[in-house]
This record gives sequence, C-alpha cells and structure tokens, in this order.
Amino acid sequence: MHEKFCAQGIGERLTTNSERRTANNEMIKSPRGTRDLLPPDTAFWNFVEATVREVFRAYNFHEIRTPIFESTELFARGVGEETDIVSKEMFTWFDRGEGPEAVLGKAWAAQHARKYERIEADVRIGRLEVDFVAYLNNQPTLVELKFRADAGVLLRLQELQDEWQQRWGVRPNLAVALPIPEVNLMQELAPGGIEIQRLALPEDYDLPQSLTLRPENTAGIVRAYIEHKLWERGLNKFFSIGPMFRRERPQKGRYRQFYQIDAEVIGPASSGSQSPARDAEILELLATLLDRVGITNWTLELNSVGCPADRAKFNEALRQALAPVVDKMCADCQRRAVTNPLRVFDCKVPEDQPIIDTLPTISQFLDEACRTHYEEVKNILNAVQVPYVENPRLVRGLDYYTRTAFEFTHGGLGAQNAILGGGRYDGLSEALGGPPAPGIGFAIGEDRLVLSLTASAESVIRKPDVYIAPLGAGMNREAARVARELRRHDLVVDLGDESFRLKKSFEAADKMGARYILIVGENEVKVDAFALKHLASGEQVTVPRAQLAQRILQK
Ligand code: HAM
Repeated sequence: MHEKFCAQGIGERLTTNSERRTANNEMIKSPRGTRDLLPPDTAFWNFVEATVREVFRAYNFHEIRTPIFESTELFARGVGEETDIVSKEMFTWFDRGEGPEAVLGKAWAAQHARKYERIEADVRIGRLEVDFVAYLNNQPTLVELKFRADAGVLLRLQELQDEWQQRWGVRPNLAVALPIPEVNLMQELAPGGIEIQRLALPEDYDLPQSLTLRPENTAGIVRAYIEHKLWERGLNKFFSIGPMFRRERPQKGRYRQFYQIDAEVIGPASSGSQSPARDAEILELLATLLDRVGITNWTLELNSVGCPADRAKFNEALRQALAPVVDKMCADCQRRAVTNPLRVFDCKVPEDQPIIDTLPTISQFLDEACRTHYEEVKNILNAVQVPYVENPRLVRGLDYYTRTAFEFTHGGLGAQNAILGGGRYDGLSEALGGPPAPGIGFAIGEDRLVLSLTASAESVIRKPDVYIAPLGAGMNREAARVARELRRHDLVVDLGDESFRLKKSFEAADKMGARYILIVGENEVKVDAFALKHLASGEQVTVPRAQLAQRILQK
C-alpha cells in the first residue's frame, strides 16, 4: 500500500528552506545558475555592448526591447513543444498565484472527499501518476482532475487501471473530476464505466494566464512584429541585448540567467527578406563583429535544414532509420522518434551517438529551391571571404528553423563551445498567427563571448585621470568644486575625504590606478593653484586652477 497520504495536506502550510534560513539569519546567496557581474568584469560587458552597438549601426540595425516574460504559449508554438527548451527548461508560472491544479484540488477535497473512507494524493503507479486514489470498502477509485474535457485523460486512466490491476490484482474504478461547464462534453467522450464528477469552482475563477521568463528572444520579436503590424515598414532589422532564462544544469558557460545579443531581419517577402543575400549579410556582420571585439579562432558551421516539405520527407526517412534501433536509445529519443524525429539530433547521451551517426542527413532531402538558396549563401560568403565549414548534422535545438542554420564555435570554451547560433525561420510568423514574413537572425551568448575574450579587463576599463585629495577640515567642499570643473572636461575624477591623511590618499589613488593626484589644501585654495603629482614618474608641479584640466588632458 502507498505510504503517502496527503489529501488533508492540501493547503497545509509547509516550512520552506528559505523560511528556515531566514529564521537562522543565514546568508542569502544568488539562486543556482545566476551570478552577479562585478567590476572590473562589467567593463568587458560594456566594451562588448558598445562595440556591438557600433557594428549594428554600420549595418543599419535598430534596437528593439521586448518584455522579459511572455505568454507560455508563445514559446510552445514558436520554439516547439518537443524541444528541450520548452519541454524541460522554462521558468513558467500562473499569473495571480493559484494555478488550476491547486484550485481543482481544493474544490475536489471540499465536494467529493467526504464520501470516501480514505484518500491518497499524487500516487505514482509505474511511470504515471494519478491525482487521487480514493477508497470505499477497500475498493480503490482512481481520480483525475481536469480543467478541460479531453480524451487523452481517458487513455491515461485506462493505462493506470491496467497497471494497478497487474500490480495489486484489483481492478480499480475510474473517475474524472472537472468543472461543471465541461461535464457534458466529457460525458460524450467517456465510455461507460468512467464516473464523471462535477466540480463547482468559484464563479469568478478564470484559468489564469500561464507566463514564462523568455528562454530566447526570436519568438518575442516576431510576436512584436505581428502585434505592431511592422510589415508596413518593409524590411525590419532589429537588435536587442538582454537576459534570457533556461533551467539548465549550470556549468562553465551555461547559466540559468544568461545574456543574449540578438539580431533579427524580418519583413514581407517583397522587402527582400527571403533573399540569400540577407543570410550572407548576417553571417558577414557576425564575422566583423567577432573580429571587432577581438575574438579570433572562431569557426562558422553552416548547414541548410530545408523547408517544411523537405523536413517531412526527412522525418519520414528518420522514422524508418530509427525503427530498428530506437529501442537501444535513451527514453527521450524513443519519444522523439515518434513525436519529432529531427530532435533526436539534440541527444547528448554518449551511448546514442554511434546510432545517430548512421542516420540520414537533411542535405539528401533538400528541394531545388532550398539547394539554390544554400548555394547562393555560400557563393556570397566566398566572395566576401568569410570562411565556413559545412556541418550536415547541424539542425539547431529550436523547431522554427528553415533553410540556413549556423553556429559559431570557439575552441577555448570547453564543452559549451557554441558562442552563438541562428538561422532562417520563414514560417515562424504564420505559426504565431501572423502573415508570411520570412526572417533570419542569430543570438550571441554574451556570457560566452566575454569568456572567450583574451584581453584583460584592465585593458578596457577607464581608470581615473586624477584623484583629488582634500587636505584638512573644510576642504571637502573645495575639492567638490574642483572635481565638478574637471569632470566638465570629460576627465575621470575620483575624490578622497578631508579626514584622510595624505598617505592614505596616495594609497587610495595608487590602488585605483589614477594617473595624477591633486592636493586641495588651505594654502592651495588661497593662491588658487594646486599641487599636481604624476603618480608613475613622481613629477610634481603647481598648476593654476584655470589650467588644471588642460594640464591633465595633456598626458
Ligand atoms: P540558441 O542556440 O538556443 O539560439 O542560443 C544562442 C546562444 O545563446 C548559444 O549559442 C549560447 O551561446 C547562448 N546560450 C544558450 N543557452 C545558454 C545558457 N544556458 N547559458 C549561457 N549561454 C547560453 C537562440 O536562442 C535563437 N533565438 C537564436 C536565433 C535568433 N535564431 C534566429 N534568430
């Protein structure tokens, strides 16, 4: 018999780990997979973002900022239900607190639990779980809660019933509990022998909206394109920089909050959005961008994943190739082989790789138009001398890709070596309810880009030009006046405090790498000229206030 009995536990208050830590005054750390970016490293990030903005300007890209959370459905429909991102990695919640499971569970406990002698909640039977097992005279009833009538629940329940009978020799009764408006429909779907239990939910209860922290930004940008009818502007060239969220196992170069520099070119076909020239421009932009930020030794891996018709043929060929071997593969691949065979290429399980290596490649299935498109992209890349290697197994981990797909990898990154990825997504707008709008884009993993920079933070950080040392009581206000004047000349100025001894000011100036130290004492203020010392050479001069900025700017 099952040990777990928690029907009364619905709504029961549990103490969470974080509550226990608070009670003990324990230190609070950033959540797993997130990190603080601190100076001087933030100088790198600023350097990268400033350089990238300059490059985007040269290619006539403009910034777009979309929300950090969107409807869950956007990613389910855009990125694809079967992808790792959507099926395993999203941070999703119901708006307004209580999700439907909790509401249905409470309603069931209030309206139906009383008629049973004993109830177990969330009971696992083999691979499946059932919401409640309720006993009356030792006869179990398996109860599933549903918000909407659907036939899938009946299949699940029948599977559970068989499993239960095999294990315990008793055939349990079956019941589906659902809100009153759905009851009639469910009765039509359900065969005899399945009890339909009615739940009266609070009248004002609407299914709350499911929201998700964006795991990527292409779907959000295409949503914005559709929502604001941006096809009226012709070809749109967007870029965006910001955080993304995926619940992945953290390791070097892989975080749960990470940053992407994203670019998308999208518009009606009449704007040239479908041309291979756009693909090549994007790839050439990326080569320029990586060179400009100082990343060498990158490899551009290129492939064409064809169009939906090619994909259908390819998926069929994959199904056939997988049929005799799939039972030797991992559980995920077994599921993918049925639902979306292309996703088998995302498998990371080492034992599956020899099998994956024998599978057909998409290049064998490209139609004439896709083949010509791909050839033209390569021709332009050759003409502008952007090197690439073809990787016929590159299919990318998101479902929306068509034709050109690419990744830039970098040797110095270890296991997470993809510095960026992207491709064409000619059908995405339609999948999200918009008009045809061919598009292509990429996202750079900014964390990984920064990791592959070889320069030191010191080389991109701007150190203070001058450190002002107020010397003695009443000198803070004089130092503030001088600092204000100097900062107007675009000098980087930092300040000490009148309570510091001169030695302490020198130490502080040294530590922050200032070029000069400027002494502001009573005598200096009286004669309106200040002692300015060059810290590296030790050379000291007295400079009248009016000439200070000029003098500091000189060297
Ligand atoms: P993606 O390949 O999923 O593509 O992500 C792009 C890049 O984001 C990766 O190459 C990697 O550098 C970085 N990245 C992904 N996950 C993580 C993580 N957990 N930690 C650190 N960095 C990570 C996309 O997101 C597509 N939206 C790209 C695109 C734009 N395709 C067309 N337009």
